[in-house]
Amino acid sequence: MAQEDIFKKLVAHCKEYGYVFQSSEIYDGLGAVYDYGQMGVELKNNIKKYWWDSMVLLHENVVGLDSAIFMHPTIWKASGHVDAFNDPLIDNKDSKKRYRADVLIEDQLAKYEEKMNKEVAKAAKRFGESFDEKQFRETNPRVLANQEKWNELHTRFSNALNDNNLAELKQIIEDEGIVCPISGSRNWTDVRQFNLMFSTEMGSTAEGASKIFLRPETAQGIFVNYLNVQKTGRMKIPFGIAQIGKAFRNEIVARQFIFRMREFEQMEMQFFVRPGSELDWFEKWKETRMKWHRALGFGDENYRFHEHEKLAHYANAAVDVEYKFPFGFKEVEGIHSRTDFDLSQHEQYSGKKIRYYDPELGESYVPFVVETSIGVDRMFLQVISASYCEEQLEKDTRVVLKLPPVLAPVKLAVMPLVKKDGLPEKAREIIDELKFDFNCQYDEKDSIGKRYRRQDAIGTPFCVTVDHQSAEDNTVTIRYRDTMEQERVAIADLGKIIGEQVSYKKLFGKM
Ligand code: GAP
Repeated sequence: MAQEDIFKKLVAHCKEYGYVFQSSEIYDGLGAVYDYGQMGVELKNNIKKYWWDSMVLLHENVVGLDSAIFMHPTIWKASGHVDAFNDPLIDNKDSKKRYRADVLIEDQLAKYEEKMNKEVAKAAKRFGESFDEKQFRETNPRVLANQEKWNELHTRFSNALNDNNLAELKQIIEDEGIVCPISGSRNWTDVRQFNLMFSTEMGSTAEGASKIFLRPETAQGIFVNYLNVQKTGRMKIPFGIAQIGKAFRNEIVARQFIFRMREFEQMEMQFFVRPGSELDWFEKWKETRMKWHRALGFGDENYRFHEHEKLAHYANAAVDVEYKFPFGFKEVEGIHSRTDFDLSQHEQYSGKKIRYYDPELGESYVPFVVETSIGVDRMFLQVISASYCEEQLEKDTRVVLKLPPVLAPVKLAVMPLVKKDGLPEKAREIIDELKFDFNCQYDEKDSIGKRYRRQDAIGTPFCVTVDHQSAEDNTVTIRYRDTMEQERVAIADLGKIIGEQVSYKKLFGKM
């Protein structure tokens, strides 16, 4: 099945099983804003716990914070967001649709990559075991021709971004013959900049009200609290501050479901270091974060680092962790070496000294910062796209979410074989015992087969069936989601069997 079709099915599945709903759906929805349903909120919370514990629990020198969304408007002037948090936009005059010029060009680069990958896949099929991919890529004329086009476009694109050359971005779009996906035409306007921050008014009277912004990143809340945390926590450099919270961006090209939203959540950690050591820390955090992603077991080959074409105004090094979504490799997380830009700017704009006295050096300085920044929603999409499977069985098919058990919203479903003979009561007893440790679901409706399918569809890793034998010897069958194997176990052992599989500690052991 084509990847786009799988993605459409995934979106429908998320709605059908209570993972993600369109916001304000009964009013025909609000663009690029989504709500998380009864399953979605559990998965989201588990992802946040995985991140939070990996930062705050496992690192003695990383502490948490929960700063407000509303902040003093000067913060956004100081951070550069008022002047430079822009996207280059272009309109198609025929369809009247608006696009991000950089995204149109990135899609064109991805097309060349796709062409090369198709050639490689065809050849791999033809030559079988003896296929040497490296040699093929270095010698096949069609691959080489596409590689050359990719290189040329990539260089032009990077230069245009770095020089902020909007005319050149438009020229690239024209030279590449990029058409509007709606109208199919090349009738483009000029490229212009558009600020992504939402604003609102604080205060009740028109004269007294001041314009404030909804934060477009959580990071600034950390920077402006650097002194508070460092002093009250008696933190010594190097140390980090971690935060999870909402961020808002008036994204023009909002697409691919929850990949790019206008209201979303970020998990950010700012690591404050001695000037000059930031690039070493940047490498360390790159490695740590990649291990965190790979520990979930979705296949190392599905992750890669992507160096930025253009460094943000605050960074001296930046890389993205990309995952192979059904629509191609895309960013899940950004790791940035932000220099002392933010703290220095806040020093200047607030007029307060934001320094660290380093007892080992005997001097004060503005710390440098390495940031790791990941979107909760994007991570959610990554996890759910990696877990979604349609499996052909002997007699029928099943849709199963092979979520890592530790992240699954419901850990076990307990099912009485029939609704009589004391079996429902026995099932309830099991839930009453396990519900303090695991999210359990009781299910007695329909045949056992149908109940298994329902649990597969929401990704429940364990189904426990209570039958007549259970009443006699206190045993049940446990059925494993991924293998569909079943075994008879003592009720008393359930907690241990499940506990081992859904343990964060076990997951952290893989990092
Ligand atoms: N403080 C740095 C920062 O915000 P970013 O690369 O703009 O950097 C970090 O964003 C992460 O936040 C991204 O890697 C992505 O996971 C998530 N993110 C950014 N914009 C988003 C959007 N519109 N919708 C969903 N997630 C988004």
